[in-house]
Amino acid sequence: MAENELILVTGAAGQVGAVGRTVTGLLLDRGLPVRAMVRREDDRSAALRAAGAEVVVGDLLEPADVYRVVSGCRRVYFGMSVSAGYLEATVTMGTVARDVGVDALVNMSQLTVSQMSIQHTTPSPQQRQHWLSEQALAWSGLPVVTIRPTVFLDGFFLSLVSPAVRDRGRIELPFGRGKTSPVAAADVARVVAAVLADPGPHLGRIYELTGPRSQDMDGVAREYSDALNREVTYADIPPEEWERELQRVGLPEHLTRHLVTMAALNRAGRYDRMADGVERVTGRPAMSVREFVALHAEEFGGRRS
Ligand SMILES: NC(=O)c1ccc[n+]([C@@H]2O[C@H](COP(=O)([O-])OP(=O)(O)OC[C@H]3O[C@@H](n4cnc5c(N)ncnc54)[C@H](OP(=O)(O)O)[C@@H]3O)[C@@H](O)[C@H]2O)c1
Repeated sequence: MAENELILVTGAAGQVGAVGRTVTGLLLDRGLPVRAMVRREDDRSAALRAAGAEVVVGDLLEPADVYRVVSGCRRVYFGMSVSAGYLEATVTMGTVARDVGVDALVNMSQLTVSQMSIQHTTPSPQQRQHWLSEQALAWSGLPVVTIRPTVFLDGFFLSLVSPAVRDRGRIELPFGRGKTSPVAAADVARVVAAVLADPGPHLGRIYELTGPRSQDMDGVAREYSDALNREVTYADIPPEEWERELQRVGLPEHLTRHLVTMAALNRAGRYDRMADGVERVTGRPAMSVREFVALHAEEFGGRRS
């Protein structure tokens, strides 16, 4: 596989974890050529172009767009926003990748898929679609590398909780007493970039990714306190109240059902899991909650001196 072959990164603008955006930067840093796929031209696409990526605009639900962006690339990172069309987009990508012929397709999935089978699915439409997507890509015969991260620090533990941490010193989530081992999207991106840079040894593998520690939310809150040098506590809020708030802010039904399922699985102890994929692939351990919160201190209201 030649080093100078163009690598396609989908979902490159970034919204929640921004894995695609970070992967683009990491590959460019290695001197590898990247085609970054975005949904629209905006400041984010301009920044990708300024960093040295070839930016292409397209819709992952449009087969002709997918054909246009995959053509000329031998390696592909496929990931997009949690959304109702995820399975359709995956099958479209798989169909195109077979037609064009690629050397590696790195597929973003979720760690909960490791707990799923025909008899044991979950009520999350997103998790079901990832599970089915993995089945379809396995039937495809494509050279796939599967990335299964646990919950990202960047969603539940940043954007969803930062206002309450800032205003009340509380992480307000309906996670009960369940343990969790969240992983930074930046670490997930480091894994994806390492695989794309040299896919050969990784083809056919599944990488399960977690943070360095599985702990209950009181333990997580202590890491916030250490990082911010002020007291942050965990408040176990009623799930129904939390779900009403998600509906009030107008999240799509698909996303709400996914988040509500994640919280329920958390309460049931299903996020109490450890995997060493980050260190195994990148040679560096995954970031702790404390390190992540310290990096994002401003968004949590700053660190007390
Ligand atoms: N968040 C978690 O806790 C977590 C945990 C494990 C796995 N995952 C998986 O990680 C993936 C999400 O990764 P991420 O957080 O890095 O994504 P992200 O930051 O939300 O970015 C996804 C990008 O996909 C683009 N997109 C959405 N629909 C598209 C379409 N039809 N055509 C073209 N582009 C489209 C979006 O564009 P716009 O910004 O322009 O809308 C967005 O920039 C999902 O597969 C999710 O299941 C997430």
